[in-house]
Amino acid sequence: MLEHKICCIIGHPVAHSLSPIMHNTAYKALGLNYIFLPFDVTDLKSAVTSIKNLGIVGCAVTVPHKIKVMKYLDKIDETAKKIGAVNTIINLKGTLTGLNTDWSGALDALKEKTELAGKNVALIGAGGAARAIAYGLKQEAAYVTVFNRNKGHGKELVKDLHLDSYIPLKESTKLDGFDIVINAISVGLESRQSPLTKKSLNQKQVVFDIVYFPRMTRFLKAAKEVGCSIITGDRMLLHCVKRQFELFTGKRIPVEILEDAIC
Ligand SMILES: NC(=O)c1ccc[n+]([C@@H]2O[C@H](COP(=O)([O-])OP(=O)(O)OC[C@H]3O[C@@H](n4cnc5c(N)ncnc54)[C@H](OP(=O)(O)O)[C@@H]3O)[C@@H](O)[C@H]2O)c1
Repeated sequence: MLEHKICCIIGHPVAHSLSPIMHNTAYKALGLNYIFLPFDVTDLKSAVTSIKNLGIVGCAVTVPHKIKVMKYLDKIDETAKKIGAVNTIINLKGTLTGLNTDWSGALDALKEKTELAGKNVALIGAGGAARAIAYGLKQEAAYVTVFNRNKGHGKELVKDLHLDSYIPLKESTKLDGFDIVINAISVGLESRQSPLTKKSLNQKQVVFDIVYFPRMTRFLKAAKEVGCSIITGDRMLLHCVKRQFELFTGKRIPVEILEDAIC
């Protein structure tokens, strides 16, 4: 019998994650002897040691571990270093390297709906995902204003990635001057809360909520009612997983196979 190669996702919570169904469907579609498992992890250091000890070949990293996990890895690639967050770990003969596919996943999702060069972007959040998106937006020459609850985190992100400005989250009631509004805070995850209301938005805007559980968040429902062009968080996830799949297996997978897995 052929030995399975094991990949996984670590996070807390992790039960909502669509990564296992997408990766496992893709392995099956290409006839690969891989399996992808979800692990709800609170002891991060032990979990990272286990990746080495158990010979797990690839690991996705999700909330709340993307920043803290960096200190337990052997190497961090240059882009992930600049972003300051890791969402993917590759185990090459016992050496764990941290990478980031969130930034390219978010850009691919945005580019399905809009140009980015010269656009004014309101980025809500300053956590690991927001940092990755901000990095990607800067590569595309967009202007980025960060709105965040914690002033220190918001200002640090603006300084680290040379963004345009920081505004406290409670002042995000009017976003008229922005072409694109992106929600990258955890509010919405398993909750009925929305970070913004209809009054903050106008119909010319592209509104992207990276939270994908539920797929149509309250924020996106509000944006749709206003007449905005909306992007659901699963578009980012699809493109992130596509890239992770390539990193874990060395093979390409058509995005349609991943779409079918979660439709
Ligand atoms: N679609 C995708 O592919 C994708 C990819 C990555 C992440 N995500 C989703 O994006 C979200 C953020 O992920 P992350 O990795 O960036 O998490 P993170 O590093 O833990 O950052 C959390 C962010 O949310 C803010 N926040 C948390 N609770 C809040 C509250 N009650 N009120 C206001 N702000 C609050 C934090 O603000 P403070 O700085 O003030 O604490 C911070 O900006 C998660 O829901 C995750 O599932 C989706």
